[in-house]
Amino acid sequence: MKYPIVRNTKYDYVGQSYASSFPNLHKYPATMLPQIGIDILKEFNISNGKLLDPYCGSGSSFASALECGLTDLYGFDINPLAVLISKVKFTKISINQLLDTKKSFRDNIFEFLKNEENLKTLKTTNITNIEFWFSQQVIENLNLLKHFIYEIKDENIRNFFLVPFSETVRECSYTRNNEFKLYRMKSEDILNFNPDVVGVYFKKLEDTLFNYINFYFPKLEKDVSVDIQYSKFQPTKNYFDVVLTSPPYGDSRTTVAYGQFSTLSNEWTGIDYARKIDGMLMGGTKAKTNISKGIIADYISQINKEDNKRALEVSSFYNDLDSSIKKVADSTKKGGKSIYVVGNRTVKNIQLPTDQFIAEKFEENGFKHLKTYERLLSSKAMPSKNSPTNKTGKTVNTMLYEYIVICEKIK
Ligand SMILES: C[S@@+](CC[C@H](N)C(=O)[O-])C[C@H]1O[C@@H](n2cnc3c(N)ncnc32)[C@H](O)[C@@H]1O
Repeated sequence: MKYPIVRNTKYDYVGQSYASSFPNLHKYPATMLPQIGIDILKEFNISNGKLLDPYCGSGSSFASALECGLTDLYGFDINPLAVLISKVKFTKISINQLLDTKKSFRDNIFEFLKNEENLKTLKTTNITNIEFWFSQQVIENLNLLKHFIYEIKDENIRNFFLVPFSETVRECSYTRNNEFKLYRMKSEDILNFNPDVVGVYFKKLEDTLFNYINFYFPKLEKDVSVDIQYSKFQPTKNYFDVVLTSPPYGDSRTTVAYGQFSTLSNEWTGIDYARKIDGMLMGGTKAKTNISKGIIADYISQINKEDNKRALEVSSFYNDLDSSIKKVADSTKKGGKSIYVVGNRTVKNIQLPTDQFIAEKFEENGFKHLKTYERLLSSKAMPSKNSPTNKTGKTVNTMLYEYIVICEKIK
């Protein structure tokens, strides 16, 4: 092993969950524990400067950063749902305005519902296969909520109200809620499924308000600036002081399907390319040739002996990670640190050393590897088993540990 790995139990956080320090405002797959970011930033004495997360998801790196005194934060993600969640968590909104809007929103809805026929007059949203995923009653009530949310003029407040809406879409659909992929409930469960959509929404709105007011708002002082964009990372030369991120650990199709998880929410909020998102994420398009250089090449060649298609998919993921690291490295200031929290997934029973790949690529781009810590993965909200053969039911343990890879820009 070229870059040594140190088992560090300090980063295990056994028994702790995301919620123990920053309750999430919305479910999201494979979130990083903010505790990891907090402790690693402290360990390397990083308490100011510009922080970048090129795969920011629901924004846990920003939670870590704020806790450590960093206030200039930049994030990117291609998944609109991820950007919505992060923006809402880290945008300062007047609590009084939120509460006033809640009151008028509620009054408008109850006034409208005095005549149930009104429901039939609302514009419906274009959702693929809508009747497969929602009952007629649920569709009408989601249309109602959406109609009044989009009457909210202030964009930040409207986004805030969209977060519980997105959770309500998921909870009131026929999706199996404990899965990240889109799977429909069994027919017998559908027969008994009749959610109170408006009731679910208001309960979620209360929870979102409670968590925002108590855990996020107090951290958003006047000088906090959080810039989050719906896009792939856009480089800026020598700009960032620290990069803290947890990238995907493989393509979305065979690992965590961020796009599928978010499809219904994204469609309900007007994203017409919602079904294409998994193909747009890292490793989403197949490479034409396999990677033949560097640490990962031998592993890919072993996979290739068994399955050429899988080897090309794996190559595609590492090609994307490679080109992203080049841009991230170029955008980091000299003396700046990169902190990547990654899992080493298994394909065809071969465990891929993503931690080594990341250290190697940063070193090729002007960085020096400082440390890699190994931590137990027990508390990460994602499956530790997946179906590497893509046959339902056939699973293997893929990842029990994850790795915190720290490098420093020296050139
Ligand atoms: C492991 S998750 C990040 C989770 C995040 N740390 C959190 O706590 O929520 C990886 C994220 O990378 C995003 N992603 C995948 N490919 C991307 C790309 N090429 N550019 C930007 N984001 C991408 C996915 O949408 C997903 O949100």
